[in-house]
Amino acid sequence: KPTILIDADTGIDDAFAILYGIKSGKADIIGITTIFGNIPVEQATENTMRVLKLAGKENEIPVSQGAAQPLVRKVDVFPTHVHGVNGIGDVELPKSVQRPIPEAAGDFIVRSASEHEGELIVVALGRLTNVAQALKIDPGLPAKIKHLYVMGGAVHVPGNVTPASEANIWGDPEAADFVIQSGLNITLVGLDVTLKTLLHQSHLDMLQQTCSAENQEIVSFLNRSMSYYFQFYRQSDALHQCAPMHDPLAVLVAIEPGIVQTQQMNMRVECRGEHTLGMTVADLRRKPAVGSPVQVCLDVDGERAIDLMLDVFI
Ligand code: BDR
Ligand code: CA
Repeated sequence: KPTILIDADTGIDDAFAILYGIKSGKADIIGITTIFGNIPVEQATENTMRVLKLAGKENEIPVSQGAAQPLVRKVDVFPTHVHGVNGIGDVELPKSVQRPIPEAAGDFIVRSASEHEGELIVVALGRLTNVAQALKIDPGLPAKIKHLYVMGGAVHVPGNVTPASEANIWGDPEAADFVIQSGLNITLVGLDVTLKTLLHQSHLDMLQQTCSAENQEIVSFLNRSMSYYFQFYRQSDALHQCAPMHDPLAVLVAIEPGIVQTQQMNMRVECRGEHTLGMTVADLRRKPAVGSPVQVCLDVDGERAIDLMLDVFI
């Protein structure tokens, strides 16, 4: 079983990603670190605690709160039109009695990497600020972490938050560039593949009929939160009753890497461009001279990916 730490700005698709990871039973999830992004970090922490309670894991999986702001920029607006005011489609989940651990996310990542040296897989579902901070605390981290899967970036497809940029990279480009140049083994699970991984209302209707009694509340939560997400994607991308499963795909790839095709590319993140801030720039020339190597996911069997994500609730 892979040892996984999830870093999340717990919004609608992050919540599904966490629930999938837990319910798959195929990963040892040793903790969740939280980050600003879809919502302020305090709300991401609150959502994470509630999602863990929903999964019955609130006493087992520690939550550590991370960065409230990017490394060098300032953020004060959050995409409520995408994830709702509370970040999980304005669904009210029961409150957890648990609190986050006192250790900050960067320290928690560093300690986890030492305790599971050579084994730890980090799956980052939001801005890369916490991972960058962990690298600053322990520059030896790339030798200790087995792999970092990042939901982020767009190489052969347009961005989602700007024409060139995907939201997680755009939201802290300095952190993303720092992490990519750090020497960590990285796979980018970006829009090239997540846009091919569409969850439809019909999938959820089917799941509602087939899921086990113990998972009924989870499936009901998925149904309610996804309806908010589907509405956003209807308005922004003219999608009909469906949405891309960005974050769940990143966790799925960490557990089942064979689901995607990847290509190694040298990459930098644009940190200055007026129209290209946060763009993932791959050096696709015959002799790449810019950036550090990362594995970029370019293709996925999206229908099979969705089936694998949903099967764990049956
Ligand atoms: C990413 O941005 C957030 O809105 C989602 O949770 C996902 O991590 C997609 O660009
Ligand atoms: Ca996310």
